[in-house]
Amino acid sequence: MDCLEGIREAIRSCCSCDLCKTRTQPVPPETVGSPKVFFVGEAPGREEDLQGRPFVGRAGKLLREAMEEAGFKEYHITNVVKCRPPNNRTPKSTEIEICKRFLIDEVKCLKPELLVALGKTAMKGILGFDVPLKEARGKVYKAKLGGISAKVLVTYHPAAVLRRRSLKEEFFMDIKKAYNMIYKQGKL
Ligand code: URA
Repeated sequence: MDCLEGIREAIRSCCSCDLCKTRTQPVPPETVGSPKVFFVGEAPGREEDLQGRPFVGRAGKLLREAMEEAGFKEYHITNVVKCRPPNNRTPKSTEIEICKRFLIDEVKCLKPELLVALGKTAMKGILGFDVPLKEARGKVYKAKLGGISAKVLVTYHPAAVLRRRSLKEEFFMDIKKAYNMIYKQGKL
């Protein structure tokens, strides 16, 4: 899609905040097929920064395993912040605000039905919530981004699941719920 190529190009040439001084390269979204779902993470980690692709490190492998097990064949994987923060620190609110225009453009371009917010930073970036993740996890909210309405399902960040294996079952359930919301409406 032309609009996506324009967004990728704008991300590649962005230096609107200081993260562009320390990252290796920005990490544009990855789109497969004509997706109805976005998986939205926090920011690229070390491996993503090196490869220029989102969710390709250990956390990414877990996310992709859950997506495959759920049945996803078409998807859009992205981050609220497109450049790796130094030492993988949490992105600052200013960095999220500056970078959010890309996510809004992605939504306007692809008009997804559902955004899966992976972890607290994604939830905060998309919904503006600042509540403990466990309060919102597994729940579905409504968001309007760039005038486009979409549902938002909040779940754990896969890196948190790697740190606490007891979260794995709920995480996989949430990703399956996302699949059912899109492809098996009414059969939940
Ligand atoms: N963590 C994220 O939030 N995003 C990535 O792309 C990789 C790890």
